[in-house]
Order: sequence, then structure tokens, then C-alpha cells
Amino acid sequence: MTQRVAFVTGAMGGLGTAICQELAKAGHKVVAAYHPQFDNKEEWLKEMTAAGFNDFVCVAGDVSSWDDCVKMVAEAEAAAGPVDILVNNAGITRDRMFAKMERDGWDAVIATNLTSLFNMTKQVSTKMAERGWGRIINISSVNGLKGQAGQTNYSAAKAGVIGFSKALAAELATKGVTVNAVCPGYVATKMVMAIKPEILQTIIEGVPMKRLCKPEEIGGACVYLASELAGFMTGATMNLNGGLYYQ
Ligand code: CAA
Repeated sequence: MTQRVAFVTGAMGGLGTAICQELAKAGHKVVAAYHPQFDNKEEWLKEMTAAGFNDFVCVAGDVSSWDDCVKMVAEAEAAAGPVDILVNNAGITRDRMFAKMERDGWDAVIATNLTSLFNMTKQVSTKMAERGWGRIINISSVNGLKGQAGQTNYSAAKAGVIGFSKALAAELATKGVTVNAVCPGYVATKMVMAIKPEILQTIIEGVPMKRLCKPEEIGGACVYLASELAGFMTGATMNLNGGLYYQ
């Protein structure tokens, strides 16, 4: 297998960690990008080392900041070489019913979950096209497809992620660069565990498989999309939601 350089945003969260680990297990060199306010970096690195992952390059920055994205990718390229695989995974929630949602909760979610794709993808997509190979994997959500009460901001951003992926896929289709969206359902991470227990219970009861998704199941989807064998898949929306919703 050709070793590629994979850049993962939101790398130290529940989903990001699993994505980094699965890409590393598949033989890729992984750059783990994390928010500078994440204060558990050392602990995370210790956990990774204990789990046998000694080779992650870490870069810090806020994906909603253009300047931070320029800096992070420059650091990644200096340390690991050109980025072949970009996983736009960083995301936040500010769940509130629309009637109570304030403008700052709207802006923060759109900036981190959607504008970040402009900021990050711009750093790598043209260079991927010039080299004739690239994989852009955008983490959307089942809630970008079905719409979730309490998440007008998040559902809008995640639906935007799908539209972005399809449009860029069309632009890069002849250049050896694929662009796809992954739509996880409810995954067992801190973000989901923050939902009130009684609401989460109702959500799980509504999932035909009656369980949460394992983070590594999303990591596995990323490994596939990053592979040579996924070369004909572009503009696709890959659903991993236990049967919760299909469009
Ligand atoms: N559909 C319709 N109405 C609903 C509703 C639903 N699913 N849930 C609550 N409501 C209604 C209630 O009946 C209530 O109405 P009344 O006032 O008329 O009685 C009202 O909304 C409650 O509103 P509040 O603002 O007072 O509710 P709250 O502050 O207690 O909770 C909330 C609001 C935080 C948004 C909460 O409903 C919630 O956490 N919902 C889950 C949102 C969710 O699924 N988030 C996913 C997070 S994980 C993630 O995003 C990862 C991923 O990609 C899947």
C-alpha cells in the first residue's frame, strides 16, 4: 500500500481519535489537528502512545480561522510532506430550539462546521489536483439529511457539507481527487453523551439497531474512502446510522 499523508481536523475528539487511529492502522502518516484551547493534548498523546500510536504529528489551530488553517497546513507539510488525504471532521453543537437560539450559537456552528471546509480544503485541493491524487472526506451527519429539532444551526451546516462535497467532487472529478461526505448517526462520543439521558434514550430507541455507532466504524469508512479502491466514488454521501434514516 502507498503510504499517504492524512490530515484530520478535530483529531483529539471521540470521532477524530478513531479516524486518526484507523488511518494510521491502514499505514498512513497522520497529522492530528486540534483546537488550541483543547487542554488535554499531553494526556491524549500518552493515551495514543499506550495504544501503540507513536507517530502522530500534532498541529494546533482553529478551523474557523483562515490564518490558522494556512499555518496548520504549512506546519503539517514541513513535518510530513504534502497532504494527500484531508478529513474535515472538526465540529461543534450549540443545541437549542430555534425560538431560543441566539445569533452567536448560529454563527459559531456555521463557522466551525461549514466555513471550516472552505478554510481547510483551500489549503490542499489545488495541490492535490496538480499531483493528480487526493481524497477529501467531509464528516456530515444524519441530522444534515433528516433535520433534527434543536439543531437548526447544526442541521443547516451539515446539509451544507453535503452540498459542498457534491459541488467540489464535480469540479475535481477529472483530476484524481475524490470528495465525499460521511454521515454518521449517533456515535458514542462526548458530543452525543452531552444530550440529556432521557432524550438520548428516546433517540437510541428510534435507531433500528438499538445502539450507538462505534467511533471506529466511522474510522473504517474514512479508511475505505481514502483507499485506492474507492477511486471511483466521488460526490457520494455515505450513511452509517444503524438504519435511522435513509434519503
Ligand atoms: N421535536 C419537536 N419538539 C420537541 C422535540 C422534538 N424532537 N424535543 C423537544 N421538543 C419541544 C418540547 O415538546 C417542548 O415543547 P413545549 O415548550 O411546547 O412543551 C420544547 O420543545 C422544549 O424546548 P426547550 O428549549 O425548553 O427544551 P430544552 O431546553 O429542555 O431542550 C434541546 C432543548 C437541548 C434542543 C433538547 O431538545 C435536545 O437536546 N434535543 C436533542 C438534540 C439532538 O439530537 N442533538 C444531537 C447532538 S449529537 C450530534 O449532533 C451528533 C450527530 O451528528 C448526530
